Amino acid sequence: MASIWSPGSWRRHEIEQQPAWPDPAALEAALAELAAYPPLVPPHEAHGLKSALAEAQAGRAFLLQGGDCAESFAEFSVDNISGNHALLTAMAALIAESSGLPVIRVGRMAGQFAKPRTRALERKDGISLPMYRGDIVNGIAFDPASRTPDPDRMFRAYSQSAATLGRLRELAAGGEPFYTSHEALLLSYEQALVRRDGAGWYGSSAHFLWIGDRTRFPGSAHVELLRGLSNPIGIKCGPSLEPDVLLRLLDSLNPAREAGRITLIARMGADRIEQRLPALIRAVAAEDHPVLWSCDPMHGNTIRSANGYKTRPVERILAELGAFFAIAAAEGERGGGVHVEMTGRDVTECTGGAEPVTERDLESRYHTHCDPRLNRAQAMELAELVAETLAGDEDAAAA
Ligand code: PEP
Ligand code: CO
Repeated sequence: MASIWSPGSWRRHEIEQQPAWPDPAALEAALAELAAYPPLVPPHEAHGLKSALAEAQAGRAFLLQGGDCAESFAEFSVDNISGNHALLTAMAALIAESSGLPVIRVGRMAGQFAKPRTRALERKDGISLPMYRGDIVNGIAFDPASRTPDPDRMFRAYSQSAATLGRLRELAAGGEPFYTSHEALLLSYEQALVRRDGAGWYGSSAHFLWIGDRTRFPGSAHVELLRGLSNPIGIKCGPSLEPDVLLRLLDSLNPAREAGRITLIARMGADRIEQRLPALIRAVAAEDHPVLWSCDPMHGNTIRSANGYKTRPVERILAELGAFFAIAAAEGERGGGVHVEMTGRDVTECTGGAEPVTERDLESRYHTHCDPRLNRAQAMELAELVAETLAGDEDAAAA
């Protein structure tokens, strides 16, 4: 039997990827203040998304999730919010038109601030400083003051999220809902925004919260917090995930096997998806766990360019996505969603595409605070691939 859950029970679990806060008393004071703030999203909207995702599980809708790798304070502007919203909406329209399916739009927006890192320290010119962990924790500039984790940053992240949600609501006015999501990584912040939901609890920082590939191990503090919240939940599934571990995660995160609760986001890499995904799909199906299978074709395809940029070749991104749909179909499942890092801005961060970005172009408009994003043209090309694939499914069903 699982032990008793409470909003703070994660503190008794093994935890990864948290900042080393220099002043624990300042952290606790900030968290106490945040705990009194209004929820960012109301529970009925999170539940509305869960119902929509249940429709996608049943093959009657498609999930499109995307936005920045990391939102930043510096790039906060109404134009950037509107630009990302417009791009996701254009991608959704293309997919909806050719598939005949409603497309559920979920932004990596209004809260996607905290980043997991491979190393705790960054070393440059003989100096070691804490790694940048996202604007909610510390600053990206390589100096001791910026890199020191500062709890006051959580208030700015909260305000920016609230303002972003306000703009998104205005853009959605009268039309289809637009949902928000982020990786539930910074657990003290997430706990401060847990609110009552009837007899239970939900995470009020976003409609949809996901657990990253580095924090999804069984018994992790991240799994513990999210198992007690009523939101729809995502789990990133990277190449090291074994089928039996995935099944244990599903048992703890969705013991009641509620439809719409779990989205599995495969992020294997184009070179590993054939080898790693089929066994996961089979194991989940054999146990009759209701899940939505989505594909993040970004995070398994990151390389370093010859001129030193972290980049992703569009051809590998599209190859993984194509393989995802083919593998799902071969296993008798549906590829029901896609999860991308993209921006409405005309950046040069990923190489390739129909209007190709070359390695030499990377330096000209490389603005990301973390991972390389698809620009508008590259994102629309990806949406076209999804649209064509789903249109093929529809033709096959009609034949
Ligand atoms: C991310 O989505 O930005 C991320 C860090 O992904 P993953 O946990 O899959 O590596
Ligand atoms: Co990323």
